[in-house]
Formats: sequence, C-alpha cells, structure tokens
Amino acid sequence: MSADEQKRATGEAALDYVEPGKLVGVGTGSTVNYFIEALAGIKDRIAGAVSSSQPSTDRLRAHGIPVYELTEVDDLPVYIDGADEITPGFAMTKGGGGALTREKIVAAVADSFVCIVDESKCVEQLGAFPLPVEVIPMARRHVADALAGLGGEPVLREMRTDNDNDILDVHGLSIANPQALESAINDIAGVVTVGLFTHRGADHLLVGSPNGVRSYHANERT
Ligand code: A5P
Repeated sequence: MSADEQKRATGEAALDYVEPGKLVGVGTGSTVNYFIEALAGIKDRIAGAVSSSQPSTDRLRAHGIPVYELTEVDDLPVYIDGADEITPGFAMTKGGGGALTREKIVAAVADSFVCIVDESKCVEQLGAFPLPVEVIPMARRHVADALAGLGGEPVLREMRTDNDNDILDVHGLSIANPQALESAINDIAGVVTVGLFTHRGADHLLVGSPNGVRSYHANERT
C-alpha cells in the first residue's frame, strides 16, 4: 500500500468512531480529506460537522454535510484529525497545513480525539518535522528570538493563517520532553498556539500500514 492508500484506509476506518445522530469534529489535511470523503457516504446518519479550517469546511459543504460553528454546539463526542508526527505516548506535532490553532480548540472541546496517520508519521521522538508556532504578527521577532533561545531555528512561513497570524516553523529542536516544551512555548508573549499536542493528546490512534490499519488506545501502544 502506498502512503496515500494508507491514508485513505485510515480515513475510512475512522468512520467506526463517528456516533450516529451526533456531530463530528473534523480536522485538516490530506488524511482528513479521505475521512471527509468516507463521511459523505454516511452523511444522512450524522447531525453534521464542526470544522477546524476553511479548506475542510469547503470540502464538507461540497459533500452536502452541514457545518456548525463551535459556539453553537453543546456536545461534540469525537474529533478526527491527522498529525505530522506522533510518539508511542500519543504526543503529536501538528500544524503542517497551518490550521493548528483551530485544531487545538476543536480538540479541546471534543470528548475524544482520534488521530489518523500513515505509518511514516510514527516516531520515537518529536522534532524531525519542523515545529509550527502561530504568532501575532507584531510579536514575530520577539517570539523568534525566544525560540532560538530554546535551541531552535525559526523560519517564517510564507502564509497567513485562518486567523490572519504568522507561522514560524522551528527547525533543529530535539524534543525530549514535549509537555514541558509545549508549556514553555505557550508562555512566550505573542504566541497564539504551538503545534505540540501533548496536554491534550490523542485518545485513539489509527495507523495505516502496508498490511492494513492498526488501532491503538492511549497508553496501550506497544
Ligand atoms: C494541519 O494543519 C495539520 O495539523 C495536519 O493535521 C497535519 O499536517 C497532517 O496532515 P496530512 O494528513 O496532510 O499529513
């Protein structure tokens, strides 16, 4: 199975976590796009979706799936999203597509987070993938200096986020303690969101592999 076929298989497998008659939280990225395609096949059996980005909203609506604002929602049983890297302890780096802030908000509200990846995303330690940090534009230089002080090499991404902020991609970090680093970066004035998802990590992990989709629950992965 190619990486794309693995992504498609995990996107389809994630349907098992969608609760009939309820809303589903939908993340962003190429793996989630396969999930949205699969979700379209059962759209009459769900209440609709809450989306973490404009591209996912557009894609959901194109399939005729109603999209609700998070502020309108009382109950969100599950959030399905991809990751750029994930460790055996289910700490993740996210934000490769620039949607990290809305992703972190929807993940915080959902009862359960199902991460869907191909096996290339599974790592022993985070850091090979540059760590995205969304920043208020006027704080860009201050935050970059602070990130350099933590040992990283921040590079400004050529894009603005859905929230009209900048993104610094931090290269060269060796992330031995992702929880401590998430807190330290959150503490820098001007940081909106760091793409480390450790305080609210995944609850379930679906990994596409050449032999099919493997599923794990938090703290049960071997
Ligand atoms: C979007 O900003 C990201 O957090 C994605 O969830 C992540 O980059 C994974 O994307 P792919 O499924 O495209 O690899």
